[in-house]
Amino acid sequence: MTLYKKNFLKMLDLTSQEIEEYLRVAALLKEKKKKGEAHDFLRGKNVALIFEKTSTRTRCAFEVAAADLGMHAVYLDPKSSQIGKKESIEDTAKVLGRMFDAIEYRGYGQEIVEALAEYSGVPTFNGLTNESHPTQILADLLTVREHFGKIKGLTLAYYGDARYNMGNSLMVGAAKMGMNFTACCPAAYFPDPALIQKCKEIAAQTGSVLRFEEDPAKGSVGADVVYTDVWVSMGEAPEAWEERIQDLSPYKVNGNVMKRANERAVFMHCLPAFHDLGTEIGREMKARFGLDDMEVTNEVFSGKQSVVFDEAENRLHTIKAVMALALCDGI
Ligand code: CP
Ligand code: NVA
Repeated sequence: MTLYKKNFLKMLDLTSQEIEEYLRVAALLKEKKKKGEAHDFLRGKNVALIFEKTSTRTRCAFEVAAADLGMHAVYLDPKSSQIGKKESIEDTAKVLGRMFDAIEYRGYGQEIVEALAEYSGVPTFNGLTNESHPTQILADLLTVREHFGKIKGLTLAYYGDARYNMGNSLMVGAAKMGMNFTACCPAAYFPDPALIQKCKEIAAQTGSVLRFEEDPAKGSVGADVVYTDVWVSMGEAPEAWEERIQDLSPYKVNGNVMKRANERAVFMHCLPAFHDLGTEIGREMKARFGLDDMEVTNEVFSGKQSVVFDEAENRLHTIKAVMALALCDGI
C-alpha cells in the first residue's frame, strides 16, 4: 500500500489501512515538530492553495505544514484569480498541473475538486466541499485516538445538520474505522440515503454500528464523543438561519446532552463555533432571535470535556501527513 502521488478527495476513497497510515505519519510529524526536529524533506516542491470559501484553520494548516516541510505555498483567494469566472476548472487544472506538485481546493461542489484532480495530473487535496471535509476527519480521528488510545469500538454522536460535509464525512470515517456513529437530528437532516447505504455496507465489515436518532435526549446516551457543527454552512443562503434555528435548537449540545453521554466523553467541533456573542453572526442572531449561543452552549464549549483546540491543532499535523505522503515515497 502506498499513498505516494495519491489524491485526497473524500473519506469514501480511502481504505481503513490508508487512514491508519495518514494517522501514523501525522503522529510521527507531530512528534518531530514538538521536539523541534527539522522535517523539511519536501524542499523545492510547490503547492497551490485554492480557497473559494474563507478559512482560518485549513489555510493556516496547509501554509504552516508546507513551510515545515520545506515547500512553497501559493494562496489563491476567491477574487484574485481567473478560476470559474474567466477560466474553466479544466483549463485551470491543466495550467496549475504544469507549475505545481500538488493542489489544494476549498469551495463548493465535490465535482470541482474531482475535476481538478483529473485534469491537473498532480495530487489534489480536498480542503472542504459542500459534501465532504476529509482533512478535518483525519484531525478528529487523531484527536480521538490521542484521547482514548483507540478509535474502534468507541461511539460518536453527531448533533445538528448531518446532511452536510461534516455529518457525511464523520459517518464515513467512523464506519471505515469501526467506530459507532449516531446522527441526532430531525429526519429531514439525516445524511443522504444512498450514502447511508454505502456506510452500512462498510460498517458491516468493520463492526461499526450506525444509528439515526430523532430524540435529542437519546442521541448521546453511550457516546464517547459528542460532536456538532454550525447550523448554516458556508455558501448557504443567510435566509436559512431562521428555519435552522427552529429545527435544530432542540439539538443544541448543552450540559444535559453531555451528562447523558459516557462519563469520560469529550466534546468536539470542527470550528468555527457559535458558543457566545463574540462573533458578528452570533450578535445578529441575538438581535433577531434572542439567542446567546447556537449549536453549543458556552458552558460545554469552554468546559473540561471540550477538546476543540487539540482538534484544531491536529489539523496541522494531519494535513502535513497528507502532503508528505502524497509527495514523498516512503516515510
Ligand atoms: N474546521 C475548519 O475547516 O476551519 P476553517 O474553516 O477555519 O478552515
Ligand atoms: N459545515 C461547515 C464546516 C466548516 C469547517 C461549513 O461548511 O461551513
